Amino acid sequence: MTSTDVTWPRRTERLLLRPYLDADADRLVQIRNQPDVWRWLMKTRVDPTELVAGWEKSVTDPHDHSAVIELDGTVIGWVNLEVEDGMGQDRTEASQRVEALLGYVIDPAYAGRGFAGEAAAEMVAVAFEEVGVRRVTAGCFADNTPSWRIMESLGMRREQHGVEDSWHSELGWVDGYTYGILQREWHERDWRTTA
Ligand SMILES: CC(C)(COP(=O)(O)OP(=O)(O)OC[C@H]1O[C@@H](n2cnc3c(N)ncnc32)[C@H](O)[C@@H]1OP(=O)(O)O)[C@@H](O)C(=O)NCCC(=O)NCCS
Repeated sequence: MTSTDVTWPRRTERLLLRPYLDADADRLVQIRNQPDVWRWLMKTRVDPTELVAGWEKSVTDPHDHSAVIELDGTVIGWVNLEVEDGMGQDRTEASQRVEALLGYVIDPAYAGRGFAGEAAAEMVAVAFEEVGVRRVTAGCFADNTPSWRIMESLGMRREQHGVEDSWHSELGWVDGYTYGILQREWHERDWRTTA
């Protein structure tokens, strides 16, 4: 699979999802390095050059389907979707590139209006219907209620509650959650229209 296997842009009820463009760089750095954003991510503040390099790579990386989220022409966040190997004996082909790791960020100025949930639902559909993975997973700090509520609204199951398994720069050791959903479970219901 390559990123060209996904049909872009994707339109949801209110949003447009599309691959990264060079013109997005400053805005993505500005969103990413706000305390209300980095507080909940696995890296706190990131070096702008590093962040932009990651986005540039996403455009050509066949396993990275991350997308920028636009609302009426304004970039308000992004959804990450990276295809990874699953667990597997002998590292045979069966277990390679079969899982997609989902993540999302919305500029706090646009939070609380359901935009992350709307964009994430579309990306789970991309993962299952176009990329063709068999599982989508996502993780968060247990205290990040908006994040795990989104996962649950997508039909994802809490598969791990890691007790004090996650280091937080301000809080110390805190609990983490991991969620997952299988392709067949997704197909049992179209979560974009019925969630
Ligand atoms: C987490 C984040 C993506 C949520 O974005 P959002 O657009 O505000 O999310 P939504 O509006 O779709 O709301 C998500 C859910 O959280 C709930 N919620 C929002 N704020 C909440 C709060 N303070 N306490 C409890 N629930 C809250 C909403 O009600 C909604 O749940 P519901 O659909 O069951 O009612 C956004 O806050 C963000 O980018 N945070 C920083 C980065 C981050 O945490 N990314 C995820 C890392 S795992």
